[in-house]
Amino acid sequence: MPDFPKALQVRQLAFLVFALLPFGLFAGTVVQPDSAYLIGYSEANGQGGLRFAWSVDNDNWYAIGDNFSFLNSDFGAWGGQKRMFDPYLYQEENGRWHCVWSLNDTIQQFAHAASDNLYEWDRQAYPVVMDAPGNVLSPEVHLSGQAFLVSWRSDGPGAEGVYQLQTDNWSDFSTTEPAAENARRNDRKLIEIAGKERFGNVHRVAWETVDDLIKHYEWMQHHNAERAETMAEDPVRFAGLEALTAEITLQPDQSKAISDKLMGIFFEDISYAADGGLYGELIQNRDFEYDPIDKKYNDPNWNAQMAWSTDGDLDWEIRTDEPIHENNPHYASLNVTGKNAALRNLGWDGIPLQAGASYDLSFFARRPDGRGTLTARLVAPDGSVLAEQRVRSIGKSWTKLTTTFAPERGIDSAQLELRFDKPGRIDLDMISLFPQETFMGRKNGLRKDLAQTIADLNPKFVRFPGGCVAHGDGLANMYRWENTIGPLESRVPQRNLWNYHQTAGLGYFEYFQFCEDIDALPIPVVPAGVPCQNSIMGGHGQQCGVPMEDMDEYVQSVLNLIEYANGPADSEWGKKRAEAGHPEPFNLQYLGVGNEDLITDIFEERFRMIYEAIGARYPEITVIGTTGPFYMGTDYEEGWELARELDIPMVDEHYYVPPGWMVNNQDFYDKYDRNGPKVYLGEYAAHLPGRPMNVETALSEALYLTAVERNGDVVEMTSFAPLLAKEGKTNWNPDLIYFTNTEVKKTVDYYVQQLYGQNAGNEYIPSQVNLSDGNRDVRERVGVSVVRDEATGDVILRMANLLPVAVTASVDPAGLDLRGSATLHVLQGDPTDRDATPTTSEIELGSEVTYEMPAYSFSVIRVAAGK
Ligand code: AHR
Repeated sequence: MPDFPKALQVRQLAFLVFALLPFGLFAGTVVQPDSAYLIGYSEANGQGGLRFAWSVDNDNWYAIGDNFSFLNSDFGAWGGQKRMFDPYLYQEENGRWHCVWSLNDTIQQFAHAASDNLYEWDRQAYPVVMDAPGNVLSPEVHLSGQAFLVSWRSDGPGAEGVYQLQTDNWSDFSTTEPAAENARRNDRKLIEIAGKERFGNVHRVAWETVDDLIKHYEWMQHHNAERAETMAEDPVRFAGLEALTAEITLQPDQSKAISDKLMGIFFEDISYAADGGLYGELIQNRDFEYDPIDKKYNDPNWNAQMAWSTDGDLDWEIRTDEPIHENNPHYASLNVTGKNAALRNLGWDGIPLQAGASYDLSFFARRPDGRGTLTARLVAPDGSVLAEQRVRSIGKSWTKLTTTFAPERGIDSAQLELRFDKPGRIDLDMISLFPQETFMGRKNGLRKDLAQTIADLNPKFVRFPGGCVAHGDGLANMYRWENTIGPLESRVPQRNLWNYHQTAGLGYFEYFQFCEDIDALPIPVVPAGVPCQNSIMGGHGQQCGVPMEDMDEYVQSVLNLIEYANGPADSEWGKKRAEAGHPEPFNLQYLGVGNEDLITDIFEERFRMIYEAIGARYPEITVIGTTGPFYMGTDYEEGWELARELDIPMVDEHYYVPPGWMVNNQDFYDKYDRNGPKVYLGEYAAHLPGRPMNVETALSEALYLTAVERNGDVVEMTSFAPLLAKEGKTNWNPDLIYFTNTEVKKTVDYYVQQLYGQNAGNEYIPSQVNLSDGNRDVRERVGVSVVRDEATGDVILRMANLLPVAVTASVDPAGLDLRGSATLHVLQGDPTDRDATPTTSEIELGSEVTYEMPAYSFSVIRVAAGK
């Protein structure tokens, strides 16, 4: 129990009675004032957002909550940058509140947000109101006539003084002007709360206003307590609980159609998922385009020579004059001085080779001083040669040369070695080594075992290329799809916002191809004309937008993508697809616009332009909008409001939540409007402290998905995130599939996704579940979902039991014929078990189905039709 409510109820009661007498407010045994003083303030270091405290006498103050934030500043990159200094509150006569605050003491912007109740805040605005080196300190606001007058101080050298501007809509602002000191109210006050000085402007408000804030705080405490529930407390929570029974009655007469694409995947190049991962290339930094900026200049070893080493009689440098292609400006230029010289690549911490497999080597080379040869080898760490080829015909100008290795010995950690025996200069670029055996044998293809592991999920769609990678770190880093097609040497490599390098070798053509290969719909995500709101490297330090004068070009680029995917082979962009070897369309039906962006005016203006242009030119494309990174809060509310206003067919929701949230919020979608935009739950996962993937996370996802499936008429698609992570290179945990150069490691959660994906249905059959223990904690931990797959006629029963005891279910099929043989899959284990895998068996069902769900288990019974 937090301090404050207790204090209010007990100790302060006597004080309140006494203090309120002068106000004439004491009217019974339980005192509630009609009004109180309210102050909003922030911490001196700007962290922690907007706090509130109240007082009845403007002297003794009580904080609402323990360091509880009612409004967080969303300006700047994650972490330390998001600050709020000197918040100032103003209330209009109609009750609407405005809060302005200073973001820091260096930039030329202030922040504004408005609210009707002081805890649900509308979108924030950060207008640029000064020229550098001016700054915005201690802003304040009040109505002056019809317009809001905002004033602030600046102490930037040469711009010291008071400034002001006017606005009547918080989108358009008058020109900033110097102002007199008396233009300001200067009514912030220093108060003391629990021995700490706080600074803010004080308002006299109705007691309900304070009471609502207290209730909101208490509701959040309750919400957070539910979120924090884990299975670790089960021995206490369920002490004495005995095995249970459940009567499950199916209601086939109330069946409804649900989405046939509920289970898909979201692929993002995070944690080396693409380069060094799914993309089959075995050479690291093949294009010599690694750049210190990839690592934000924090790694002294990260540069264009990274992953390469030399040996013997040569020195080398990176040159940029006359490159193979302007988009690939750097290349290696070797000055060979003797007969014993070598350039080596260590791959992605070693090149894994399989005995008997074939590997294609290709590279561009030139010898400006005359013709030459080189010897290419695959070598073991002890120097022994595993395969060797002589490559001739190196001429004076860039030429692409190829050869194939067939090592007889397999090894986890080979290196590629290029040896030179003739002195002189030799230039090299795009040095590539690919296994011939890629997924589906595609050239420039995907690592077979990883791609197959993904395909085995039976995903109905693939969302790509991100995530944060899609909208990028700053404008220059936004993922531009057209930079990732065409010959590899002409693609534009760039910094990966997860702090490494993207070759774009796995580009849009390869993504579309992969979707087709696994029979999944492609769902590309393009930036909504704004980069990530947490951009650090963009020069702006915040969400900014493609300049309006460039938006036509940007919108056209989005339209071009649709033509590239679906246009005829003789259209401008369809031709590029055909040239890449795919004259047939790629069947693009969905397009994501934006990724959990901050919903600001900057975003909305650009989103509208893109959305309207797609609607006008390609009305058949389903645009997927975005509603921020959370299941509540400003971006969620504003994103949904925009979606309803624009009638966006579908929105992409994201939430990474503790298992406790999933257990306690299974009704989340039951409340959704059946006639509004559909939902794509594009990123979700259960996150436990320490971020393991184990039986607890897997079962909570399985349980939550039973509720999602029940709402499969609103939720059309879901994808767990992130999908892939290379061990030792993870930016984010947990992930669905971990891998090394040679191994693929499926998590427990993978099997849940697979059990749903491989047993999908498109008709939901409701069921009544009566448990022998009706306690809410118990009820919430048993989830049942029954679907039928129209294509096969099979009925699939899913039962998630998150209790520490077995639950014996008697299923009344209510007219459905479930008799005969069925396939049973069971995933079970101790909550902390990270290695549980499902078992599969054949069972016989009678006219009444009885099944014992083991403790901590997820069971799927697939009843084949027509047995
Ligand atoms: O899935 C990892 C990241 O989570 C995604 O890039 C982003 O959209 C979200 O914040």
